Parts: sequence; C-alpha cells; structure tokens
Amino acid sequence: MDVFKAAALRTRTHGDVLSLAAGQPSTSAPGPVLQATRDALDGHLLGYTETLGILPLREAIAQYHAAEAGVPVDADDVVVTTGSSGAFTLLFLAAFDIGDTVVMARPGYPAYRNTLAALGCRVVELDCGPQSRFQPTVAMLESLPEPPKGLIIASPANPTGTIIDPSELAAIARWCQAHGTLLISDEIYHGISFGDVETSSAWETSRDAVVVGSVSKYFSMTGWRLGWMLLPTYLRRAVERLASNMTVCPPAISQVAAIAAFTEASRAELDGHVRRYAVNRRILLDGLTAAGVTDLAPADGAFYAYADIAHLTDDSLTWCEEALARTGVAVAPGVDFDTVHGHHTIRFSFAGATADIEEALVRLQPLLRG
Ligand SMILES: Cc1ncc(COP(=O)(O)O)c(C=O)c1O
Repeated sequence: MDVFKAAALRTRTHGDVLSLAAGQPSTSAPGPVLQATRDALDGHLLGYTETLGILPLREAIAQYHAAEAGVPVDADDVVVTTGSSGAFTLLFLAAFDIGDTVVMARPGYPAYRNTLAALGCRVVELDCGPQSRFQPTVAMLESLPEPPKGLIIASPANPTGTIIDPSELAAIARWCQAHGTLLISDEIYHGISFGDVETSSAWETSRDAVVVGSVSKYFSMTGWRLGWMLLPTYLRRAVERLASNMTVCPPAISQVAAIAAFTEASRAELDGHVRRYAVNRRILLDGLTAAGVTDLAPADGAFYAYADIAHLTDDSLTWCEEALARTGVAVAPGVDFDTVHGHHTIRFSFAGATADIEEALVRLQPLLRG
C-alpha cells in the first residue's frame, strides 16, 4: 500500500507512472455487461435482493462451474457475495472458531492471513518454494502435528501465478476429506492460464470443499464487488444468516449486470484479454531473464510474475520505492505476501497494456542489471 500511495503521488507530480503493481485488469467490464447495466438503470428497482443472490445469476454461475469442472452444480450450491473478499469473511465466521488452526501457503494472498488473524484464528503458513511450484502438497499436510481445521489454497495463485497440478489438487482434496479439514479452494484466477499446467476445481474431487470465485479477475470487473462460493450443504444456513445481518445482499446492479458476463459474447471479449496477457507474459519473462532476473516462479496462470531478486536487494520495499522514484515504474514488494522471504522478492503484474510492459522493461533495465 505504501508503493501504491507513492505511485499515486508521483502520478500527480510527474504524470509518468507505469503501474505493474496493481492486481487487476486494465480493461472495463465486457460490453454486454455494460449494456446490461444501462438497461438495469432504467428497468430495475435495484433494491435489496435475496441474501444469497438473485436466481438468474446463481444459475449462470452454476452453469459456468458445471461446464468448467465437468460436475453437476446447481443454483442452490451458489452463494453470491460482495467480492470474494466478502465470501472469505462470511466463510471464516461460519466455519471457524477462535483458536482454530487454518493453514495457507507462504507466499500467499495476505488478506487470508490478516482476516483470519482478526477473527482469532491461528494461521499456520507452509513455506512453499520452487520444489512444489510454491504450492502446498499432501506431504506438507502430513508433516503437520495434527490435521488443521481449514486449509486455503489458491490456484492459480497470487503472488506467484502457479497452478497446482490436477492430480495433486485431487490428492489434497481427498486428504482434507479424510482428515476433517475444510478445504477452501480459491479459484478466482481460473480462466487465466497459459497452457503449462491445467487448472482443475476442488469440486471435481470433493463437494465437502468450498470453491471461491469472483468477477474480479478473468471477468475484468474488480470494482463491481461480486464474488461467490460453492458451499457444502451444512454451511449454507449459517452463511445465509451471517450475510443477511452483515450486508443484507451483494450490490443489486452488479448482480443484474453480471449475468451478461457469462454469455458467449462476453467470454469472447474476455478470452481476447487472456491472449493479451499471454503476449505480455512472454515479453515480461523474456525481458526479465535478459536483464539477469532468472529466479522466477513458473507463471502458469493469473497475471503475475514473481521474482527473487536476492542478488539486487535484501529490502524489497525500499528497492520498489527507489525503482518508482528513479523510473516511474511501480511493482509490488514481496513483503506482504511472504513475511519471511519477501524482503528479496517482487511481484510484477502483466495485466496492463503491452506497450506499458515494454516501456517498463526499458526503464527498469539499468536497475535490474544492478
Ligand atoms: C488470491 C486472491 N483471492 C481473493 C482476492 C480478492 O478479490 P475480490 O474480493 O476482488 O474478489 C484477490 C485479490 O487480489 C486475490 O488475489
């Protein structure tokens, strides 16, 4: 957040900032969603909706997952939430008690850790390095002193972009089922992958798992604040009661409009963005390698490249601040994602325009070369 603040300040003073720091698409929602929004403003009351989300949206989400995962998914399985962020809070409250142990990968998305800690859970981070594509494995779970109450996985992951191999994900899901561990599978980057490893869904193996989705990433709709969960039956009533008290319902206009995100026309537009991410990814990985930054996590999916720059710094926050001051390029320091090793890692987002990635590499060359 310090880098974001400094980038905003520099935009005002210099106007030359290229941001490879933000974890969001640089494009608007797809055309059919924008049209549906205009129509909704005229035709809809846009009052409170059902707490679990409007039925046509829950049906569209169910069909999307059924087609993706090849398993039956019903509208009743779907709970629509205020971003996936809203889903995590509801789920943690419904599923965990104070003192429960919940396991996640390090590096990982910091909001899991911070939200769980705020709710009094004990967060155990698994140190995940290149040997396991920065992802947890069954062997790591076996080495815990006892099975945890919950395990959160993200595939593709933030900050690394790595994908858990489908057979390992299935093994993790089976392990969790056998040991009474609630598996929370963050699948919000599904749809953005580059062919090295296939994505798979936890629901292909276990419907005791929770699958989390969102319109924020593939669907290019971060600010619409809409996410969802596929929930096992036993958690549904608790989540519904919590949601009705905490938010009443997710934003009505976003729900009405998001139905159009699942249409063929929207998917064609969104797949075009993924093709651009693939081009950007190649340019960025090649550019970093040419500049001597070769210790990179396999960028299987999402729109991130995670680099170890131990040869350049042991203080990634200061390095990023200096990079911004000297070049106008903003990248994210690893410290939030990994409190142990993140002082020598940085995350690049390649969700922006291709020309921006090219220009950022030119500006960063002297710094990356040390
Ligand atoms: C892995 C992961 N999960 C969840 C989120 C939250 O996304 P949202 O609340 O916009 O759905 C993010 C945001 O960057 C993320 O990277």
